[in-house]
Amino acid sequence: MSAVICGTGSYAPNYIMDNDRIAELVETNDTWIQERTGIRQRHIAKEETTVYMACEAAKRAVECAGISPEEIELIIVATLSSDVILPCTACEVQREIGAKGAAAFDINAACSGFVIAYNMADAFFAAGQYKTALIVAAESLSHLTDWTDRNTCILFGDGAGAAVLKSVPGKHFLSVTHSDGEKGWALTCKNRLAVEKSGFGREFYIDMNGQEIFKFAVRKVPELIREVLRKNGVKQEEIDWFVVHQANCRILEAVARHIGEPSWKFPMNLQSYGNTSSASIPLLLDEINRQGKLKKGDKILLAGFGAGLTWSGNILEWGI
Ligand code: ACO
Repeated sequence: MSAVICGTGSYAPNYIMDNDRIAELVETNDTWIQERTGIRQRHIAKEETTVYMACEAAKRAVECAGISPEEIELIIVATLSSDVILPCTACEVQREIGAKGAAAFDINAACSGFVIAYNMADAFFAAGQYKTALIVAAESLSHLTDWTDRNTCILFGDGAGAAVLKSVPGKHFLSVTHSDGEKGWALTCKNRLAVEKSGFGREFYIDMNGQEIFKFAVRKVPELIREVLRKNGVKQEEIDWFVVHQANCRILEAVARHIGEPSWKFPMNLQSYGNTSSASIPLLLDEINRQGKLKKGDKILLAGFGAGLTWSGNILEWGI
């Protein structure tokens, strides 16, 4: 059995913050940000909560799939920025959309979160445990951003994306996930307890060594893509789209160059949303789906990477 996506949805907050607005907060400018990252603007959750965005994306995915919420047996939400510690966001989504009886839990794998949630649902399908799942990724990174730190505040945005998965007979693709805790220091964010214990550092905010993360992504994502292809006996030319975490256009271009693919096979929407961590891949999938770019049977290679450090990939066949 294998997983196919049969519905997608997304939500981006109403408030849009462009680069000029950021230049009023820190010493930077629109040209620098666009040249170094590709980002023109990002959506910021002023009114919306992580749960609200997750629910909106979920409802749109369920509507797109044309199923009733009661059919959903499993809900996994990927987030590093839940509104509260308890209850988990997935249980809030379950209640709000009326997915009575569904198993629901959150995972935190930073920017790899959506791909790892997909891999988990796919593994449940392969084990024969569930046939219909909803996976959601939702982030309010603006609350974890230090708006006086130009290394990070230019990058991040808020939003959510979701997909309904169904288990169908067919080739089962094997996922690849790696982690390197030794490099965890390169991208951190403390909670209240950690700040109280250490008493130093940028309290509660995302702290990042941008160059280290950049080098890690450009080295590991091409390796990840090759490993996913090798493990599944799929030739690179069989892949129609490479949907990669939207962190920086220079990372996407470097990965395309490394594996010898044209950059149009790497769809990109980070210019409008910034880096929305785990939400970036489902936001992009929903966008290209609604633009009619994806055909039934298209093979899509998903690749996520981020804090932890973690990186994860898989292949899916488009099922809509
Ligand atoms: N505006 C203007 N100038 C700046 C800014 C800014 N916002 N930030 C840095 N600079 C300056 C620096 O001071 C430096 O000046 P100098 O040459 O006089 O010393 C110069 O620009 C170059 O700085 P670098 O840090 O080398 O800039 P770089 O080209 O590496 O770009 C960036 C920085 C955009 C952060 C890049 O490293 C990057 O995108 N890294 C990956 C980040 C990422 O993807 N993180 C998320 C991972 S996913 C997750 O899990 C959340």
